[in-house]
Amino acid sequence: MILKTSEVLKTSEVLDETSGLTSKMIFLLFFSKNKDICSYFESMHATKKYALNDIKRAAEWLLEQINDHKVIALHGNMGAGKTTLVSAVCRLLKVTDAVSSPTFSIINEYNYDDNGADGSVYHIDLYRLKDEEEAIRAGVEDCLYSGGYCFVEWPERADGLLPPKTLHVHIRLEDDTHRSLEIAKN
Ligand SMILES: Nc1ncnc2c1ncn2[C@@H]1O[C@H](COP(=O)(O)OP(=O)(O)O)[C@@H](O)[C@H]1O
Ligand SMILES: [Mg+2]
Repeated sequence: MILKTSEVLKTSEVLDETSGLTSKMIFLLFFSKNKDICSYFESMHATKKYALNDIKRAAEWLLEQINDHKVIALHGNMGAGKTTLVSAVCRLLKVTDAVSSPTFSIINEYNYDDNGADGSVYHIDLYRLKDEEEAIRAGVEDCLYSGGYCFVEWPERADGLLPPKTLHVHIRLEDDTHRSLEIAKN
């Protein structure tokens, strides 16, 4: 199949605007002229590439994706930028407490003004926990079902505790200064 230049350019624009789809999806987009298939993939998947000096924009984008989700599972290796991203989202929410890594505390709670009501952000890091039992003992479940925002680093440690309506966000290292966020929507 031979692609016209305009089709390739159209695909590049989609890539720039939404900051990309996975390579598998790009492949399918290249070989599909069907607009329904294209928009289906776009609605299923969203990505955003960012540098540290652009993290505010990445946090704004993430908040849009979060929409009415409350539990956000942040997948990514050590140093990927999970804590840095949660800090940036908390700045947008104007939390009144200092944001720090919960690696040792397991759960940090931050307060913010949620349109006149008291809002809570639970920042959870399960890295040091062995299993779900330990997470329950640490009070993780209470946070997950509290109705407040919950950002969970190392969610794989207690996968079974996460509510069905959890937004799974993958943070990947693009290079030393760039990260990308990838969300598979359900
Ligand atoms: N685009 C970027 N986004 C987030 N962090 C970045 C970026 N570029 C470089 N960094 C650096 O990567 C490190 C990420 O650390 P951290 O947020 O604690 O990671 P994690 O919580 O995933 O272990 C920080 O030192 C941060 O300055
Ligand atoms: Mg961290």
